[in-house]
Amino acid sequence: MELNIREWIDLLVRWTHVIAGIMWIGNSMLFNWLDRNLVQSDWPREGEQGKIWLLHSGAFYEVEKKLLPKGARYPDKVHWFMFQNLTTWVSGIFLLAVVYYLGGAAYMIDPSVAQISPPVAIAIGVATLVGGWFVYDLLWRSPLGKNTPLAFAISFALLIGIAYGLSQVLSGRAAYIHVGALMGTLMTGNVWLYIVPSQRGLVAATKAGLAQDPALSYGAKQRSIHNNYMTFPVLFIMISNHYPITYGNQMGWLVLAVLMVGSALVRHFMNIRFTYGPWLRWAAGAGVVALAVAMILTARPARTPSASAAEPVSFAAVQSVIQRRCVVCHSAHPTDNIFTVAPVGVMFDTPEQIVAMAARIHERAVVTQTMPFNNRTSITAEERDLLERWYAQGARITP
Ligand code: HEC
Repeated sequence: MELNIREWIDLLVRWTHVIAGIMWIGNSMLFNWLDRNLVQSDWPREGEQGKIWLLHSGAFYEVEKKLLPKGARYPDKVHWFMFQNLTTWVSGIFLLAVVYYLGGAAYMIDPSVAQISPPVAIAIGVATLVGGWFVYDLLWRSPLGKNTPLAFAISFALLIGIAYGLSQVLSGRAAYIHVGALMGTLMTGNVWLYIVPSQRGLVAATKAGLAQDPALSYGAKQRSIHNNYMTFPVLFIMISNHYPITYGNQMGWLVLAVLMVGSALVRHFMNIRFTYGPWLRWAAGAGVVALAVAMILTARPARTPSASAAEPVSFAAVQSVIQRRCVVCHSAHPTDNIFTVAPVGVMFDTPEQIVAMAARIHERAVVTQTMPFNNRTSITAEERDLLERWYAQGARITP
């Protein structure tokens, strides 16, 4: 008996990551929603900023937003919600290390993109996260940061530049996940270096009967808006690994750029939809356009069938390709040194198993060309072509 510790660590950390992420982002969206739906009273008391009634799980909640007036007693217990963010980030970084950095960085290196060694690939990943924070933080603290539209434009351009740069050295999925991990790191830096200190300042000032330092609260507000716009792009990147048409695309970085901008605009639409303005239609329209552009970018170009398209393909030839290029991983007894259990349970040991998966084989090995995994088994264009013809001819087991 041999326990598969790596898989279990992966599972438990991912599970934690998703739970903490739901709590953190869910909370943040709820508070954003609350802020936009507060009702101002006709005769507000000192410090009162609005009220709202909510109905949930069998009772009413009456929530009021306010600053405590001078001399008011500080409540015994105030909930802060900062560890949801920390748990999400720490588990995310841990997961990044377990999945991408350990095991010879197999997920990072795609020889058809760049021939780099595992330490180099890992160094690029770590440098992106650390360097990215410093560049972003400096930008927004510099005089440029005072010009919000300009600083936003520069930030997005830098992010897209990073997506492009990473896609030139790492596998598509590693490039994607590092852009996501970078944004998660920026959000976490914002929480701990700006938002939490500002809240501490507010608490201290309230307890001392003083007004809060406006510079602290300005910085916190600015960074919390950034976090708000990063949520949708980060969530897309978290699930992007299930969609080879995105990260596996030749122009994967551009698909990512379009979806990041588009989803940030959808977030914008949700932010402003209660204060109707011309921007509303603009943001909604741009989000739809971005989606259409991403769909076009990931469309498969029309192909002229090769001269041999009609030539019948024997199943024996197909099985031999799969045996050479896929079965090291996709088998009840894999021989690959990293993938020691059949990935996602997919096995090609018998003709029936191959035929049953024909559509997915076609999708991954021919259409998106994201299998063999980072082409570790060096499949050739002719072999992909053979799989394609077999699929087009009905994907049958010929005698
Ligand atoms: C080096 C190991 C490795 C090799 C070789 C490999 N795969 Fe995979 N395969 C994986 C991993 C890891 C996953 C799960 C991650 C993913 O879906 O991208 C996977 C998932 C799959 C899936 C299931 C997911 C889906 O999209 O349906 C199919 C189908 C697949 N591979 C087909 C192939 C084919 C066909 C070949 C050979 C041409 C091949 N694989 C070669 C590692 C490998």
